[in-house]
Amino acid sequence: MIDETDTQRLAERGSNRSQRPTSQAFREFIAGNWEEREPVLPDRSPAAAPAAARRKRIGLLFRGDRLVVPAGQLVTRSNDTDYRFRPHSAFAHLTGLGADQEPDAVLLLEPLADAPADGPTHEAVLHIRPAAGKDTEEFYADARYGELWVGVRPTLAEVEARTGIRCAHLDTLPDAVAKDAGQVTIRVVPGADAAVTALVQRVREEVGATTSTEDDDALAEALSEMRLTKDDHEIGELRMAIAATAAGFDDLIRSFPRATAHPRGERVLEGAFGARAREDGNGLGYETIAAAGDHANTLHWIANDGPVRPGQLVLVDAGVEVDSLYTADITRTLPVSGRFTDAQREVYQAVLDACEAALGKAREKGARFRDVHAAAMEVIAQRLEAWGMLPVSAAESLAPEGQYHRRWMVHGTSHHLGLDVHDCAQARRELYLDAELRPGMVFTIEPGLYFRADDLAVPPRFRGIGVRIEDDVLVTGDGAERLSEEIPRTVADVEAWVQRLLPPPDGQEAGAR
Ligand code: GLY
Ligand code: MN
Ligand code: MN
Repeated sequence: MIDETDTQRLAERGSNRSQRPTSQAFREFIAGNWEEREPVLPDRSPAAAPAAARRKRIGLLFRGDRLVVPAGQLVTRSNDTDYRFRPHSAFAHLTGLGADQEPDAVLLLEPLADAPADGPTHEAVLHIRPAAGKDTEEFYADARYGELWVGVRPTLAEVEARTGIRCAHLDTLPDAVAKDAGQVTIRVVPGADAAVTALVQRVREEVGATTSTEDDDALAEALSEMRLTKDDHEIGELRMAIAATAAGFDDLIRSFPRATAHPRGERVLEGAFGARAREDGNGLGYETIAAAGDHANTLHWIANDGPVRPGQLVLVDAGVEVDSLYTADITRTLPVSGRFTDAQREVYQAVLDACEAALGKAREKGARFRDVHAAAMEVIAQRLEAWGMLPVSAAESLAPEGQYHRRWMVHGTSHHLGLDVHDCAQARRELYLDAELRPGMVFTIEPGLYFRADDLAVPPRFRGIGVRIEDDVLVTGDGAERLSEEIPRTVADVEAWVQRLLPPPDGQEAGAR
């Protein structure tokens, strides 16, 4: 019940904990006596040139249209605290900005009148909310944007120097979107920023434009399909993400003794990897799966609140996202004590053989994306047949009307990887699943077998074992490169890796075993 005598509105009560001064004397005092910031402009980002090339490509596809690409808004996590900001991937791709840059910003690709057939089609303008002066209330009173709260924000000139894109104040966005609205098709990336979508929609309605959400969807589709092949800069960033992920897996193995001693050992593993992700990168590309024993059979096990016991396997699916927002996506299934049991090894080897078959297919000339999955499934079905687990032959199971083997691997074998862990998700099927592999494509190969402890169709010796092995692969001119080849994955290499990083048992020298 709200007390009728209480006149303070609910929305204003959030600040009741604080007693910010409001006196004129305070306002004047806090506004002055700050050292001037040196007007040194940052260097041009190495991402600027590739981002310009991408803007050129998208411009050619939408000649004459105004394209609106928002970074997105801060998202509330609870009450008045926000999640760490991460810009929309299409915005990052077209601007080269990453990390937490820049809430509310909008890239506008303004069509050039009389664009020459072989020349630029659009002018890019980046609308951002620049740093406010120290004489503004925002400076000290705005917990979302104020410099005393979130640190120095860049000026228009600084973002311009960094990106090579002309910058304008965010306040000028509505006019820029509405300019000549009746005579130009306006398309906005759907789902990126509800306020910007509403602004575009208002402008369209005011002029009675016939543009529909299908026009926006066509932009999203094109932006997604543009990312199906990666340029050299992107491949370099992905290599960095994978190297940091490899270091994170080393840290995680080093934490095994602490994990087995802790009632929530999976959290110890998650934390060890997460620390590396923040130290070496922007953070995690997705929530880490740290699943010991039977938890590995819950495909998206991110609760990570179980114990880790000697003798178990831990399935860890984790990826570092670097500051440019490219992410790795790696899974390793590791024996906690440094040695696989016979049953664990048998299942592990089956999955590894499926990985090898899929990689071999990816290296074949003319292979399609879907063939990579088919190659992995063939191995999985044959192994399940050999273990007597299929009610039909492997061949019958592999037929579309069979698919019994999928009981133990319901997920796909591969997905594109880049700025989004599941990259290019709006691409058309004919360019994704049905497409021939092309140099520059980066995708995962990640078969698995998941034998739940309560699965009576599984031989008892395998129950409670879950294995996935996930690598990141780049299609090259003459095959495919396993970008994550430095991260051990054969039975012998994984055992040696874990044993090398585990502290030696009492009384032994390091490296003595
Ligand atoms: N980590 C998400 C995936 O493997 O697709
Ligand atoms: Mn994956
Ligand atoms: Mn994964």
